[in-house]
Amino acid sequence: MSKLKKAIIPAAGLGTRFLPITKAVPKPMLSVLDKPTIQYIAEELESVGIEEVIIVVSPGSDVIKNHFAKNESLEKTLIEDGKTALYEIAKKTASFNVKFVTQEIPNGLAGAILCAEPFVKDEPFALLLGDELIYAGKKDVPCMKRLADIFNQTGKSVIATMEVFGDDVSKYGNIGYSEEVDGVMTVNALVEKPSVNDALSNNAIIGRYVLSGEVMSMLKTLKPKGREIILTDALDQLAQDGKLLASCFDGVRYDVGDKLGYIRANVEYALRSEELGQEVREYIKELATKI
Ligand code: G1P
Repeated sequence: MSKLKKAIIPAAGLGTRFLPITKAVPKPMLSVLDKPTIQYIAEELESVGIEEVIIVVSPGSDVIKNHFAKNESLEKTLIEDGKTALYEIAKKTASFNVKFVTQEIPNGLAGAILCAEPFVKDEPFALLLGDELIYAGKKDVPCMKRLADIFNQTGKSVIATMEVFGDDVSKYGNIGYSEEVDGVMTVNALVEKPSVNDALSNNAIIGRYVLSGEVMSMLKTLKPKGREIILTDALDQLAQDGKLLASCFDGVRYDVGDKLGYIRANVEYALRSEELGQEVREYIKELATKI
């Protein structure tokens, strides 16, 4: 079994829900507090020991590349000024081993994954969707670590899920499963954004996966539906063959592709911040008395 060494972050969405900021600023560079969302996602991989991260970007995303590159003059100035803590922050962004690939045609999630194929070939890969942040907290096993551990123990592809209720089931991929042992479900079917009546369970797929190398070859052979090849079709095939597992994630998920989710992320990360948390808490309490 190949070891998990690569990760793909599809981050080529145009971000039209965030216009006008996304006209000139790529969506993955939108900041939660002081850090772009794409960096939070890259940091999720620190607990996993991934050797190479492939970020799939849209054309004109040089600012993302600059973010992950070394900025020698900034680092030099911060050192000269004795601002060591800031120097460490500035230096960190260049420490990720990141490769970029441009998704020229907006042909969906599977299209983005296929853009990364020259780097991943037939190796297993972690997949982290760029519109979601997962906050693990200090005590929990981070979501990606849990998926990587399950993959390394079983050699099977594994996806993270969360429980959803009511109309929310129609917003996500949905799994059916045959058994659950120690929190690991054996998936036997998968349906993308079902109606409430067609849902197989209350378990929705969140944007975190560890997939075996065969998924890449399946995506290459699957017939497109309309313009798009559908990742769920490949995952459903794995599920039918008993090769797909799922685990309910532990932590807090933020949908930063949505304005309210983005605001929530900013407020909650600010509340957790050592620098600002106390002041923000007092501000929110005071504000709450007025609204
Ligand atoms: C994608 C997946 C879906 C999953 C969701 C999680 O959908 O296709 O199965 O539940 O991400 O956010 P999208 O949100 O890109 O439409």
